[in-house]
Amino acid sequence: MNTSPSSSSSAIPLSALPRIAVLATGGTIAGSAQDATSTAGYQAGVVGVGQLLAAVPALSTLAHIQAEQIASIDSKDMSFALWAKLALRVNALLATGDIEGVVITHGTDTLEETAYLLHLTVKSTKPVVLTAAMRPSSALSADGPLNLLNAVSVAANRAAHGQGVLVAFNNRIHSARDVVKTSTFAVDAFQSPEVGALGWVQDGRVEFQRGVVRPHTVACEFAIDAASTGAWPAVEIVTSYAGATRVIVDALVQAGVRGIVVAGTGNGSIHAALQQGLADAVARGVAVVRASRVGSGHVMHNGAASDDALGFITANSLNPYKARVLLMLALAAGGTGPAALQQAFDLY
Ligand code: SIN
Repeated sequence: MNTSPSSSSSAIPLSALPRIAVLATGGTIAGSAQDATSTAGYQAGVVGVGQLLAAVPALSTLAHIQAEQIASIDSKDMSFALWAKLALRVNALLATGDIEGVVITHGTDTLEETAYLLHLTVKSTKPVVLTAAMRPSSALSADGPLNLLNAVSVAANRAAHGQGVLVAFNNRIHSARDVVKTSTFAVDAFQSPEVGALGWVQDGRVEFQRGVVRPHTVACEFAIDAASTGAWPAVEIVTSYAGATRVIVDALVQAGVRGIVVAGTGNGSIHAALQQGLADAVARGVAVVRASRVGSGHVMHNGAASDDALGFITANSLNPYKARVLLMLALAAGGTGPAALQQAFDLY
C-alpha cells in the first residue's frame, strides 16, 4: 500500500515493453450503432476485444498485449458470478511473473462498483486499471480508443504500482474508492467528488498528484475465492425521500436480507417512518448502513446521540453503491454487529 502523497511523473514505461493483460467485459466501449451519428441508440457489449485493440495500433508501442474476452455484457447486468470470475482472473494473472498489469474494459454504468470491489479484493500491488467509454465504438469521435490507450499507459507505468485499483477516463486517473459516474451523456462522465482525481495521463505521460490514503488490495482482509460465485450476503439499497414509508424495508427483512444501505437525504438523514422500519430491522439482526443520496461529501457518525442507539453504521464518504459493496464483503468475511462493521467503514 502506498500511503504517502506522491508526485511522480514519467514517460518511461516499467520495462522496455511490459506485458499487460486486457480483460474485456462489454459496455459502450464495445458498443455499436447503425450509424456513426448515433451515440444513444446502440447495443452495448457487441464488439470483441480483438476489434477494440485493432482500433488502437499505438498500443504496440506501449506494451505486449495479452487479450481475453471475460464477458460481453451491458454493465447494468453485472452479476456476482461475473464479479467473482473477474476477480479470480485478475488475481491469477497478476500472480504470474510476466504480467505487469491488467486493464479491464467495462461499461460505465456499474464501473465504480466493480472497481471498488477489486480495490478491496485484488491481492497484488501491480496496476489494475479500468476504463470505458461514453460513445459506442461506431460513433464519430468515439472516446473508447483513447481511453484504452491511456489505460494501458497507466498500467504500464511504474508510478501506478501500489495505488490500488485505478480508473483511467478522459485523461484523468481516479482511485476506485473515490470515482463516481456523474453524467448520463458527457464524455467527462467520471469525477472523484470532494477529493479530485489522483492524476492525469496524456500522450503516454502519466502523472500522479497525490497518493491513496486508505488501505486497499494486499492490505485488505477481504478475499474472493471459487466459493464466492454464488454465496454473497444479500444487501439491498433503499432511499429516503418526502413521504417515504417502511414498506420496502419490511419486505426486505421478510425476504431475509443480511444488510440494508439507506441512501438518506443530506447528511444521511432518514424519514421518521423509514427510520423506524430500519431500527426494527437492526433489532432483527440486519446490518443497516446510513449513506447519502447527495453525491458528494460524507455522512457523519452521530455516535451515542442516534446512530449507536439505533444500531446504525455510517458510510463515511462512500456512496450507497460502494457502501453496499463494502458491506457485502465485510459480512462475507464474518463481520457481525454494528461496532465491528463500523470499523470496516472507518478503515476502508
Ligand atoms: C454499460 O454500462 O455497459 C452501458 C453504458 C456505458 O458503458 O456507458
